[in-house]
Amino acid sequence: MKYHPKPSRYDHMIYNRCGLSGIRLPAVSLGLWHNFGHVDDYETARRMLFTAFDAGITHIDLANNYGPPPGSAEENFGKILRQDFHGYRDELIISTKAGYLMWPGPYGEWGSRKYLLASLDQSLKRMQLDYVDIFYSHRPDPDTPLEETMMALDQAVRSGKALYAGISNYDPDQTLEASEILRQLGTPCLIHQPKYSLFERWVEDSLLDILEKEGIGCIAFSPLAQGMLTDKYLQGIPEDSRASKAVFLKKEHITSEIINKVKQLNNLAKKRGQSLAQMALAWLLKDKRVTSVLIGARTVEQLEDNLGTLDNLEFTSEELKKIEVILG
Ligand SMILES: NC(=O)c1ccc[n+]([C@@H]2O[C@H](COP(=O)([O-])OP(=O)(O)OC[C@H]3O[C@@H](n4cnc5c(N)ncnc54)[C@H](OP(=O)(O)O)[C@@H]3O)[C@@H](O)[C@H]2O)c1
Repeated sequence: MKYHPKPSRYDHMIYNRCGLSGIRLPAVSLGLWHNFGHVDDYETARRMLFTAFDAGITHIDLANNYGPPPGSAEENFGKILRQDFHGYRDELIISTKAGYLMWPGPYGEWGSRKYLLASLDQSLKRMQLDYVDIFYSHRPDPDTPLEETMMALDQAVRSGKALYAGISNYDPDQTLEASEILRQLGTPCLIHQPKYSLFERWVEDSLLDILEKEGIGCIAFSPLAQGMLTDKYLQGIPEDSRASKAVFLKKEHITSEIINKVKQLNNLAKKRGQSLAQMALAWLLKDKRVTSVLIGARTVEQLEDNLGTLDNLEFTSEELKKIEVILG
C-alpha cells in the first residue's frame, strides 16, 4: 500500500507552544514504547503512524531501549520513515532518549557523556536519520555529575545530531539544577517528560510550577496509566491487554480499588459524551502548562478514540469537583 498523507492533516489538531521555545507540539503525541518492536505487527505499526500523521500528530517519541528487543522500535520506525514518509521529515518532531540499559559493561546505561553520545549515534543509525529533534536524558544518574550529563546534551545539540535537549523523570530539584546548567551552556532545556495522569499526580506538587517559571514544556507520559484509565478492565483483564502480557503493568495493579474509581470516572465520562480515555486526556490538557499528552496505542481504533479527545476539552467546575471526590 502506498501512503499519501491527507492534505487536511493540520485542520483539527491543536498545537501548543513548548515552554518558551519556538516549537509547537501537537496536544496529542504518539509514543512507541510498546507495540512497535520486532515482536509486534509491522503493518499495524505502519497504519498507526499513518493515522497519527493524518490527524496532525507531528511528534513521535522514541527511546534507545523501546522494543522489544531494545532498539527495534527505532529500527521499525526508521524503516517506515524511509518507506512511507519520504519528503516529510521536516514536518516531524522525532525524539529519542538514553538512560536505561542498552549494552553490557559500565558504559551501557545511566548518564555519562560516554554513554549518552554513543547511544545517540546508535539511535541515529537505527533510524537512519542525520539528527533527532529532541534528545533526552531518560533518567537522572545518581553517580554522574549533572554537569557531565547536561554537557553531553549540549554537545549533542552543538554537533547537529539533536536540535533540542530534554530531560525525563527528573524530580523538581534536579530539574531546576539541570535547567540552570543547560541555560548557562547556551542550550536551554526544551521539555520535561514526566509520568502524569489522573492516577499519578506528583508533578502537581511543584514540578509544573518550576517548568512554567523556567520556560520548559511538559509532555505527560502514560497519561492513561498504561490503559487503566480506559474502560478495558471493567469486565476483567482482556487477553490481549498490556496487564495480561507486559511486565510494566501487572495483573496485580488492577485492584478492586482502582476498578471502583475507573467505574465512577467512566460514568462521568459518559455523561460528558466522551470515552474515559478521552476524558482522562482532556483532564491533563486543561492545564496550560501541559504542552502535550504522550499516548501509546496498540490499535488504530485506540488511537482514533484518543484523538477524539480534542472534540471536548472543557470541564465545568462541578465535573472537576466530582473527579476529585472520585479520586479521593
Ligand atoms: N520517559 C519515560 O520514562 C517513559 C516511560 C513510559 C512511557 N513513555 C512514553 O510515553 C508513551 C506512552 O506511554 P504508555 O504506552 O504507557 O501510555 P498510555 O497512553 O497511558 O497507555 C497506552 C496503552 O493503553 C491502552 N490504550 C490506549 N488507548 C486506549 C483506548 N482508547 N482504549 C483502550 N485502551 C487503550 C493500550 O494498551 P493495551 O495493550 O492494553 O490495549 C495502550 O498501549 C510511550 O510510548 C513512551 O513514548 C516514557
